[in-house]
Amino acid sequence: MSPTSDLLAAALAQSGFHPRLPQQRRLYEAAKAAIHQQRLGAGSKLPSSRDLARDLGMARNTVIAAFEQLAAEGYVVSARGSGTYVADLQAHSASMRGVGGAPQGRLAAGANAGSGVVAAAARSASGAAGLSRRGRELSSVAAGPRFEIQPFAPGDPDFSSFPFKLWQRLQNRVWREARNDLLDYGQSGGHLPLRQAITEYLRISRSVKVEVEQVMITAGTQQSLDLCAQLLADAGDTAWVEDPCYWGARRVFQARELKLRPITVDSDGIAISAADLSTHPRLIYVTPSHQYPTGAVMSLARRRELLDVAVRKDAWILEDDYDSEFRYTGRPLAALQGLDNDDRVLYMGTFSKVLYPGIKVGYLVVPPALIAAFRSALYDLQRPGQLTVQATLADFITLGHFTAHVRKIRQTYGARRELLRHMLAQKLPRGVTISREESGLHLVVELPDHVDDVALAQRAAAQEISVKALSTYYLNKRVRRGLLVGYAYCTPEQITDYGRKLGAIIAAEVAA
Ligand SMILES: Cc1ncc(COP(=O)(O)O)c(C=O)c1O
Repeated sequence: MSPTSDLLAAALAQSGFHPRLPQQRRLYEAAKAAIHQQRLGAGSKLPSSRDLARDLGMARNTVIAAFEQLAAEGYVVSARGSGTYVADLQAHSASMRGVGGAPQGRLAAGANAGSGVVAAAARSASGAAGLSRRGRELSSVAAGPRFEIQPFAPGDPDFSSFPFKLWQRLQNRVWREARNDLLDYGQSGGHLPLRQAITEYLRISRSVKVEVEQVMITAGTQQSLDLCAQLLADAGDTAWVEDPCYWGARRVFQARELKLRPITVDSDGIAISAADLSTHPRLIYVTPSHQYPTGAVMSLARRRELLDVAVRKDAWILEDDYDSEFRYTGRPLAALQGLDNDDRVLYMGTFSKVLYPGIKVGYLVVPPALIAAFRSALYDLQRPGQLTVQATLADFITLGHFTAHVRKIRQTYGARRELLRHMLAQKLPRGVTISREESGLHLVVELPDHVDDVALAQRAAAQEISVKALSTYYLNKRVRRGLLVGYAYCTPEQITDYGRKLGAIIAAEVAA
C-alpha cells in the first residue's frame, strides 16, 4: 500500500460517517479533510484509481467518482497521462479573495462551509483557537475511538431490541400526571423512586452494600467519573488506571490534570507491581467484573489486595461496573464494592448498555461520609434534570420490565456471541485466539505480536467492518495486539456474512 492509500484508509477508519453515507462520499470527504489539514500537501500525487480501489477494497468506479468530485471542486487536478495531483489551495483562495478579503467563489465557500469541523480540528491541532492551556492539552490528545454504527463496532447495544411502545406508554403516563416537581432540577441526588429502584437492584443483583441516600443519579459514567475526579483529587495528583484502559476514563482524568500511572492487566485483572507501590495514587480506576477492553475478571485475591492497597495508600477506588448485566453463563459476579469494609470504593453503573447510550442516565454509589459533598457538587456543578426520564425509568424497573428486558437481550447477545465465535474460529490461523470470557458486548481476537492490529482494523474498515485495535487502548509501550469485535447489534445474517469476511481478512494479514 502506498503512504497516500494508508493515509486515506486511516482517515476513512477514523471518520464518524453516517452509516448510510455512500462510499464515494466517504472517500471524497476523507480526501478533502486530508487536503485541508495539509496531510496531503499541494502537489502530492494520488495513487491511480485502480491502485487506490485495490488498497481500500472499493470498486474502481467509486474511486473515480470521488476523484471527479474532488477535481470539480478544485481540490485536485488531473494531468492527462501523468496522474492526479493535489491542487495548491493557498494560491487558489488568494486569487479568489475579494476586496474585503471575504472568501468568494465555489472553492472558498466549499472550504468554509463544508468543513466547520475540519477547520476547527485543524485550528486546534495547531493550538491557535484561543484555547486555554488545558484546552490545548486536551485537544492535542487524539480523540478516543469513534464508534460507527456498522457491523462489529464494539460497545453498542442492539437499538432495535429497545421496547419502544412500552417505554412510550410509561412515559405518557408520567406526562399525563403533570407533576410540577418533575419539571424542576433534580435535587438530593436524583428522583427518589429511581434511587430506590436502583438500590434494590444493586443489593440483589450486584451484592452492593447500599442505602438509598448513597445513590446519586448522574448523566452516565462519564459524569460520575468527572465528579469523582473533581471532588477527590487535585490537579497533579496520581490516578492509577488499568493498562489497557477505557479511553473515556483516561480522558476525564487528563481533563482534570491528573497524572496517569498505567497498571498492567493480566488474566486476573489489575496486577500491582512493587514499582507501582512506590507511587501514591489518589484514585484507582478499575473495571473488576469485566476488564475493559480485555474482558479479564479480577480474581478474589486481587480484589482483596486492591482494597488493602487503597486503605494503606489512603486512595479511592472507582469501580466502573458498566456491563455486568451481560453475563451469559453462571451467576453474575458480585461487585468489588460488596467486599469493601473500609468505605474506599465508589461504585458506578450506567443504563447506556442495557437500554441505550443516548438515555444518559447512570448512577454513582458513594460511601456515607461523601454523601453531602457529592449531592451538593452534583447540584451546583451539573444542575441535573430529566426527571421525567428518571420517573419513566423508575417505573420501568419497579414494574419488572427492566429484568425482563435484560433477560431477553442477554439471550439474544449470548447467541450472537456464540455465532460470531463460530464464524471466526472457522477461518482463524494458528497463533490467533478468541477470548473465552462469558460476558460483555465484544470478543477480543488476540493476534501474534508481529501483526499490526491498527492496519488490520483499517483494512476491515475498508470493507465496512468497524473493529477496534486492542493496542490503541494501552498507555504503556508493552502492548498486546488484537481486535475488539462487537456483536450485540449485528443480526445473525450480518454476523455470518461479516464474520466470514473478517476471519478471511485476519487470516490474510497473519499469513502476510
Ligand atoms: C468501560 C466503560 N464504562 C462506561 C461506559 C459508559 O459510559 P456512559 O454511562 O458515560 O455512557 C462505557 C461505554 O462505552 C465503557 O466502555
